Amino acid sequence: MEVRYENLPTFEDFSGSGVWRYKASLPFEMGISIKEGNTPLYTVPRIESDVGIEALRIKHEGMNPTGSFKDRGMTVGVRVAQELGAKRLACASTGNTSASLAAYGSRAGLEVIVLLPAGQVALGKIAQASLHGAKVLQLDANFDECLDIVTMLAEEGEVYVLNSVNPFRLEGQKTIGFEILEQSLEEVGRYPDRIVLPVGNAGNAAALYKGFRELVASGALKVEEVPKITAIQAEGAAPIVEAIQNGYDKVQRWPSVETRATAIRIGNPVNAPKALPAIRNTRGTAITVSDKEILAAQCELAEEGIGVEPASAASVAGLRKLRSSGVIKKEEYVVCLATGTLLKDPDAASLSREAPKEVPANVEEVMRVILN
Ligand SMILES: Cc1ncc(COP(=O)(O)O)c(C=O)c1O
Repeated sequence: MEVRYENLPTFEDFSGSGVWRYKASLPFEMGISIKEGNTPLYTVPRIESDVGIEALRIKHEGMNPTGSFKDRGMTVGVRVAQELGAKRLACASTGNTSASLAAYGSRAGLEVIVLLPAGQVALGKIAQASLHGAKVLQLDANFDECLDIVTMLAEEGEVYVLNSVNPFRLEGQKTIGFEILEQSLEEVGRYPDRIVLPVGNAGNAAALYKGFRELVASGALKVEEVPKITAIQAEGAAPIVEAIQNGYDKVQRWPSVETRATAIRIGNPVNAPKALPAIRNTRGTAITVSDKEILAAQCELAEEGIGVEPASAASVAGLRKLRSSGVIKKEEYVVCLATGTLLKDPDAASLSREAPKEVPANVEEVMRVILN
């Protein structure tokens, strides 16, 4: 397989729209595309002023074709699978990877197998994976154990893995960072001081850092302009935070993990060797947030019209905490990454608010309830 890596990208090399706008930094000119990328950078004036920072934007990756950032990696990864002649694609998933792989793999005409931890994946994501044509297997195991099995199948040559352990996935995900820089310059007038993101397998943290290093190497970005990569994990699934806060070289696997933010219920982040330097070398940090803080942030975002799944809201919960402790300064311009849409996990969303009221079908009763 011929992979293009002749160029380090500069901003002038970028043209077109979406992930493939950044082909100068990708291994191919084009992949299996469903028009991924080009997601909005939203203002959230109420959260911005309540948290007390100069500028805050939400990069809403839930606006990708299957509703999460995973599509950016799949458009590249599935193209590579085709080049390699792979016939059977597979992933372990907390949900979003399976939905995305099912859509992109099926579009490429390839067989897709997904392994999910039974009872731990939001319904919307399972429905997507099935409808897009994947064979969905639910295992009595957690995500990390499912990934162990997929890895063994790959070692035996049975499947081509499209989890973020596949470096081509991260190539596509680098484009989140490129878009944030370009949109920030255009819409805010400067690059962000910091990108705050929810972390599970730590692919995005690694990918953002790789993209920024390429721009630094080409001379397009100054080292001091690289945003601080700031990782947020749920209290019940926080091996990266543990490693950063204790100065470990390696993360230690958490054998059991728990959080309502099911997408980041991960105890053995495979991209940790790339993500720890990403956080440290950009002078970022890593902290945990509680499920309560995550769900409160999800409601806050929803009140500004932005619907995200619980894992995504961890970034805003983390921002709030880091601002209160003074780690994030009020002069900063911060971008919070929202990784997946609200509709992925309708159960979590409905639990966070009052249930719909049963009302008799007449005007008086309806008015009585409205005024109550
Ligand atoms: C919605 C959502 N947010 C965050 C993550 C974690 O991303 P990463 O594995 O790149 O840390 C995932 C991964 O499954 C996800 O689905």
